[in-house]
Amino acid sequence: MYISNTNLILIVDDTPTNLEVLSEALTDAGFDIAVATSGESALKQVEYEPPRLILLDVMLPGIDGFATCHQLKTNPLTKNIPVIFMTALNDTLDKVQGLSLDAVDYITKPFQKAEVLARIHIHLKLQNITVAMEEQNKLLKQEIQERTVAQAALQQLSQELEQRVLQRTQKLSQALHELQQAQVSLVEAEKLAMLGHLVAGVAHEINNPVNFIHGNLEHVNHYTQDLLELIKLYQTECSPTLKIAQKLQEIDLEFLSEDLPKTLSSMKIGTKRIQEIVRSLRNFSRCDEAEVKQVDIHEGLESTLMIIDHRLKAKPNYPAIRVIKEYGDLPQVECFAGKMNQVFMNVINNAIDALEEVMDKRNSLPILPTIRIQTEVLDAEYIRIYISDNGSGITEEVQKRMFEPFFTTKPAGKGTGLGMSISHQIVTQKHGGSLSCISSLGKGTEFIIEIPIQRSKLHQLPMNGMTKSQAAS
Ligand SMILES: Nc1ncnc2c1ncn2[C@@H]1O[C@H](COP(=O)(O)OP(=O)(O)O)[C@@H](O)[C@H]1O
Ligand SMILES: [Mg+2]
Repeated sequence: MYISNTNLILIVDDTPTNLEVLSEALTDAGFDIAVATSGESALKQVEYEPPRLILLDVMLPGIDGFATCHQLKTNPLTKNIPVIFMTALNDTLDKVQGLSLDAVDYITKPFQKAEVLARIHIHLKLQNITVAMEEQNKLLKQEIQERTVAQAALQQLSQELEQRVLQRTQKLSQALHELQQAQVSLVEAEKLAMLGHLVAGVAHEINNPVNFIHGNLEHVNHYTQDLLELIKLYQTECSPTLKIAQKLQEIDLEFLSEDLPKTLSSMKIGTKRIQEIVRSLRNFSRCDEAEVKQVDIHEGLESTLMIIDHRLKAKPNYPAIRVIKEYGDLPQVECFAGKMNQVFMNVINNAIDALEEVMDKRNSLPILPTIRIQTEVLDAEYIRIYISDNGSGITEEVQKRMFEPFFTTKPAGKGTGLGMSISHQIVTQKHGGSLSCISSLGKGTEFIIEIPIQRSKLHQLPMNGMTKSQAAS
């Protein structure tokens, strides 16, 4: 609010005596005085030098006091100057009219000096208080505004901070995930390469001697036949001496000639089996094949089963695990054969672990431990392999975390927690397929592997591969 800092009071009256009386009284009281004798000149004067207060006569030549006041009050520069009407009319209507024009007060003529001064003082004091309040109000408003600004800035800052923390956290967990993936890849690559070379080396070394034993067994068979026939001939053609007769009895020639061919043929079965195992080992490891190839998936499954055959056989405390194969009519599938075999191995090993876990629980109902392997063509592009067991089953919490690297529910030394994550990586990243699982606790588990028949046809598949669902989306 603007107020004049002078001590100036403007008296507006057209009666010289009134002016005189008032001027004298106010000068005596220490005020500076300005006078005007009409509304028009008062308005001009106010603009020229704004007073602290105006004493305004109602009856004026030209525009009257009310009109003058109205003009003062509608001008923003002058509207805050207190106006006290001076009126001879003792009429309430006039007073009310005066007040409704925003004049602050009125005095009646003839003047009582003391009254005039008292009113002037009160209004100046009121004005001072108003000014102080307005000033304070302004300061308060300013403070509120500053605080609002500061608060907004603070909020903005905290939002930014939150955003940054979020981004960092995301980056960190992404980095952690990548690190774990890299670790898995590394372990997988190293383990597979080492194992593959070892297995392939051993298989190769065994292969030659087994082959010549197996091949020579045929000759041994012939030779023994010949020798036995020769002995028979001797027996019929020449009569044996005592020494020979004794020896014949000692060696029980009759039993020997019956048992020897049997022994030889069981040896042959044995070497045949070793040959098969060697072939399976070579087929399983296939470490020489770093590239995709057209592969018979069933051959891979068979090799895998052959290698873990010892785990399927009956043990002193477990019955044998039955393997039911329901192979469909599969085409050759383009894949990394060695890696897919590793997936089969991981999944079947887990199934056996789950079956053993159930059989270990003495109080659980005895089960007929079974692994079922089914294969089928899903559509023109995909094949599907189901590997299920009637073992312990998997809780939902474990299902959620099962594919995480190093996640295991098995005791230390038994589980590495890598089988499923490696398998998942091989199926999804390497082959653009999917690996999923359906399980209910206590009933068993079914793993479903889907891979494309022609990996190279998946144009979307980048070098490091992507999942089928990714490819579809
Ligand atoms: N067929 C299954 N039946 C029950 N649980 C399974 C089966 N396959 C996997 N799991 C669960 O998934 C976990 C992770 O498996 P995996 O990655 O192969 O690690 P590991 O076998 O070394 O524990 C296992 O510890 C087990 O809890
Ligand atoms: Mg495992």
